Amino acid sequence: MPVTLVPSLPTITAPAPTPAPSGPLDVLGVPGEINLDYAATAPCARAAADAVAELLPWYASVHRGAGALSRRCTLAYERARQTVGDFFGARADDEVIFTRNTTDALNLLARSLPAGTTVVTFAGEHHANLLPWPRGSVRLPVPADPDGAVRALAAALTELRRASNPALPVLVAVTGASNVTGEQWPVAELARVAHRHGARIALDAAQLAPHVPVDLLALDVDYVAVSGHKLYAPFGAGVLIGRADWLDAAPPYLAGGGATSHVGPATHDVTWATGPARHEGGTPNLFGAVALAAVCTALTEADRAALAAREQALLARLRAGIAALPHVVELRTFGPDAPRVGIVSFVVAGQDSAEVAARLAAEHRIGVRDGLFCAHPLARRLLAEAAGRSGRRDLPPTALRASIGLGSTAAQVDRLLAALAALG
Ligand SMILES: Cc1ncc(COP(=O)(O)O)c(C=O)c1O
Repeated sequence: MPVTLVPSLPTITAPAPTPAPSGPLDVLGVPGEINLDYAATAPCARAAADAVAELLPWYASVHRGAGALSRRCTLAYERARQTVGDFFGARADDEVIFTRNTTDALNLLARSLPAGTTVVTFAGEHHANLLPWPRGSVRLPVPADPDGAVRALAAALTELRRASNPALPVLVAVTGASNVTGEQWPVAELARVAHRHGARIALDAAQLAPHVPVDLLALDVDYVAVSGHKLYAPFGAGVLIGRADWLDAAPPYLAGGGATSHVGPATHDVTWATGPARHEGGTPNLFGAVALAAVCTALTEADRAALAAREQALLARLRAGIAALPHVVELRTFGPDAPRVGIVSFVVAGQDSAEVAARLAAEHRIGVRDGLFCAHPLARRLLAEAAGRSGRRDLPPTALRASIGLGSTAAQVDRLLAALAALG
């Protein structure tokens, strides 16, 4: 398909980023297709594809067979658990439970809360970190800046402790990086506040983990939830890592084979397993776990500071290009200079976002996301803020999102900018 060339490209002053990584962190793709939708689902890393291909001939049951194939698969699954736990800095007594994705991980945590737990979140969360929590949860307004988030949490926890039984558990559930703006939240500071008030904290690292190291110990968070498919590891695994006591005391997430240590003849004569098996009922997703572990290993062996610097250079190029287009307005929560990962949401004034996304795909072979990004309260708020800031009355009711990662290049970013310029 011919590419529309646009004469009036914005001038990009950011230095050209270094080439995309090769080897295990090379990502698979289709020549000619420009994927700028990593935040939805990242492409598959070679490390994940290779690990799965190597194990495929051995494919057999996990924890259910005595044969050589089955034993190898069981070993691979448990090694994957160890690798993933180590990658995220799990403490020796933390559970590392494989789930389908972040949504599944946070729902598992929600079902494991002791009776009477109050959950505190911010309204800027993805639906996966807004909707699983029980009635009576506290939803704090979106703060104006990271310091405001810390202050608001401290005030809310002080009030909560004053107004309710201080013996009842409190869980703070926050994102590490917004899926709408890419802005990073002050996780370590929020963890300090939570612990000062005797609360626990769960980190939704779905968008943070693909971009920067996430370490439970270093951040001092109690739980972390991650999706493999956003971390270059398709095949449908995610993980919940964290404190064992609530998880071991909770009813099994999926009742069934593998989750029990004893089943007697009477209907309710069941002793449930403790440890990860309790919540991993049924045959586990071996390839999902192995793929995720392979990417964790590849990232551990990589120069992550260099990867992050490369991504930031691309992000700066993208944001500078967008800022130079008078008909395109960026969405943001914390202000233009807040630290963020490679995600930018924006609107094209006077143009329907779904139509723009369709045109980018059809005319330029560029894949981006449009809509409210499963964060409706935040996205609506930011759209209103963008209208006020830009003074434009013709902004559409939904947005576009471009997101980058390991396989992204300056040429791809420039192609998007050229295509957006042509819409002006
Ligand atoms: C911040 C955040 N949390 C949670 C999720 C849910 O992830 P999944 O759809 O893999 O469960 C997403 C997905 O976009 C996300 O961006």
